[in-house]
Amino acid sequence: AQGGAVAPAAAAPVAAAPANTPTLTILVGSQTGNAMGVAKGFQAQAEAAGYTSKLVSMADYKPRSIKGETHVAVFVSTHGEGDAPDDAIEFHEFLGGKKAPKLDGLKFAVLGLGDSSYEFFCQTGKDFDERLGKLGGKAIVPRLDCDVDYEDAAKAWGEQLVAALKDDFASAGTHDVVTVQSGVAAPSGAEQMYTKKSPFKATLIESQKITGRDSVKDIRHIEISLEDSGIQYRAGDALGIWFKNSAELVAEFLELTGLSGSEEVKVGDTTVSLSEALTSKLELTLSYPTFVKAYQEATGSEGLAALMEDKAQLRTYLSERQLIDIVREHPAKIDAQAFADAFRPLTPRLYSIASSQDEVEEEVHLTVAHVDYEAFGKRHQGGASSFLCERLEEGAEVEVYIEKNDHFRLPENTDTPVIMVGPGTGIAPFRAFMQERDAQGAEGKNWLFFGNPNFTQDFLYQVEWQGYVKSGLVDKITLAFSRDQKEKIYVQHRLTENGKEVWEWLEAGAHFYVCGDATHMAKDVEAALVSIIQEHGGKSEEDAKAYIVALRKAKRYQKDVY
Ligand code: 2AM
Repeated sequence: AQGGAVAPAAAAPVAAAPANTPTLTILVGSQTGNAMGVAKGFQAQAEAAGYTSKLVSMADYKPRSIKGETHVAVFVSTHGEGDAPDDAIEFHEFLGGKKAPKLDGLKFAVLGLGDSSYEFFCQTGKDFDERLGKLGGKAIVPRLDCDVDYEDAAKAWGEQLVAALKDDFASAGTHDVVTVQSGVAAPSGAEQMYTKKSPFKATLIESQKITGRDSVKDIRHIEISLEDSGIQYRAGDALGIWFKNSAELVAEFLELTGLSGSEEVKVGDTTVSLSEALTSKLELTLSYPTFVKAYQEATGSEGLAALMEDKAQLRTYLSERQLIDIVREHPAKIDAQAFADAFRPLTPRLYSIASSQDEVEEEVHLTVAHVDYEAFGKRHQGGASSFLCERLEEGAEVEVYIEKNDHFRLPENTDTPVIMVGPGTGIAPFRAFMQERDAQGAEGKNWLFFGNPNFTQDFLYQVEWQGYVKSGLVDKITLAFSRDQKEKIYVQHRLTENGKEVWEWLEAGAHFYVCGDATHMAKDVEAALVSIIQEHGGKSEEDAKAYIVALRKAKRYQKDVY
C-alpha cells in the first residue's frame, strides 16, 4: 500500500468517537524507526489515560489535513545536517511554505530526536515547533529535544503531555485508539526477543580485511554468529553493536586527571568503578559540547572557558577532536563522580547488515570501516569500529540486537528492477539484497553503482559481484574508482553518464536505493538524479523534483545514509 492511509491495524471495529470528543493526532517522521518507537510508546500512555488518538506516519498524511486537527503531537527525528527524515520532507516543507494554512486553535506538542554531537541537533523538531507556532498553534508543553539516550526523557515528557491534555480529553472518557500506520509491510517473524536494552550475546566468527594491502582504507568483512538466539532480520535492517572502549584510552583519561580508576561512581542506577564506567558505560570517542561544559565547570579551566565563549569556534574545535584531545590539551584534577557525569552514556553503533538469512541462516555479516587515523601527532580510533576490528577476538562475545529498518526494503514484487548506489561501506545492504533476491529466484533486473578509491585495492566483494554477473542475477555493475585517474570520478558522475538508461529503468518502475555517506555523496547523487530526470524526462527542475517526491512516496526512492 502506498500513499493513502491503510486500514486500521486494530482487529476490533473501532467505534466512532462520541461527538465533541477530541482526537489526539500523533504524527510521526521516522528514518530508522526510533521516532516511531517513541510515538508508539506515547500512544500507549495516552491510551492508558483513556484518550482517543490516531497515529499516522507523515508519509501517509495529507499535509492539508492539519487544518482540521485540534490536537497534534509531533514525533520527528533529524539526520545529517539538520535534514528531515524522508517521510517528513513533504509535510515539513508544506508547513514552512506559502500554502501553509492558519492554525489558530490548534494545540500541539513536539518531540524531536537527534544527536547532540551534530551541529543541527534536533533541527527538524525545532522547525516543526516554530512553524506550528507561527501559524497560530499553541504549544501544550515545551518541546523536548531528545539526545541519543532518549528513552527516560521521552517517557517523562509523554507523562507531562498526557497530564496537560487532561482537561480537554479525560472528561470524554472514551477508549478508542485508532492506529493508522504507514503502508510498510509488517515485518515477518515474531517480535524481537533481544533489544537495545537487553541485547544478545553473540560471538565473532571472523573478521577479515577486504581492502588491499596498499589501500588507503581499512575495511573489514565481519561475520557474527547468532546461533540459538532465534533472531530474525531482513535485508535492509541494521545490527546494533555494544562495544567496550580501549584500555589504553581509559588509562590515558585517568592519568591526565590524576584518578586511579578504582573510585566508585554512580552511572544511572548502578555503582561501578570509574575504570569500568569509562570502559563500558560512557561515550569516550565522539566529541560533544556538553562534555566541555561539564569538564570546564568541574576543573575551572580558564582555557576552556575562553573557548566556550565563541560558539562557532567551539564547534570547529570539537569537529577536529575527540574528547581525549580536549583533556590532553587541558589536563586537570577532577572529582571522580564529576568526571563520570561529564560524559554521555555509551550508545551502541548501528551497522547496515550485509547478509540475508536466506543465505547465511544464523549468521549476520557486516562491512565495517576501521576508523583509525593520526591527528595532533597521536593515533585516534573509532569506538565500535576499533572494538570490532582490533580488540574483539574470534570466538569472543559481542552484544548485539536488530534495529529494524522498514524504510529500506527490496520491492515486494520480485520482478521490479532495482538500482543500487552504494560506494564504500554503502555496499553492505546491497550484498544482503542480492543474497535475498538470489534466494527468491527474483527475475527483476539489478544494477549496482559502486565506488571507492582504487580498483586493485578497494573493489569490495569483487568475486561475489562478478559471480552474480555471471549467473545473470546482476545485470550491470558501474564502477567509480575515484583515485585511479587525475580527476575524481564518483558514483554520481557515473549516474549522469548513464542518465538515459537510468531514466529508462525508472520509467520501467525501478526502485532506486542509496546507501553510504549522507553529508556529501547522498546529496550529490540526488542532484544527479534531478538532472537526469530533467534531461531525459524533458522536465523542468520543479517537475523533476516533484518526480522524486512521487518516487519517495511510492517507496521507490529509499536511503540508508549516515
Ligand atoms: P575519495 O576519497 O577519493 O574522494 C567511498 O568512500 C568513495 O566515495 C571514495 O572513492 C571517495 O572518494 C568517494 N567520495 C568522496 N566524496 C564523495 C562525494 N561527494 N560523492 C560521491 N563519492 C564521494
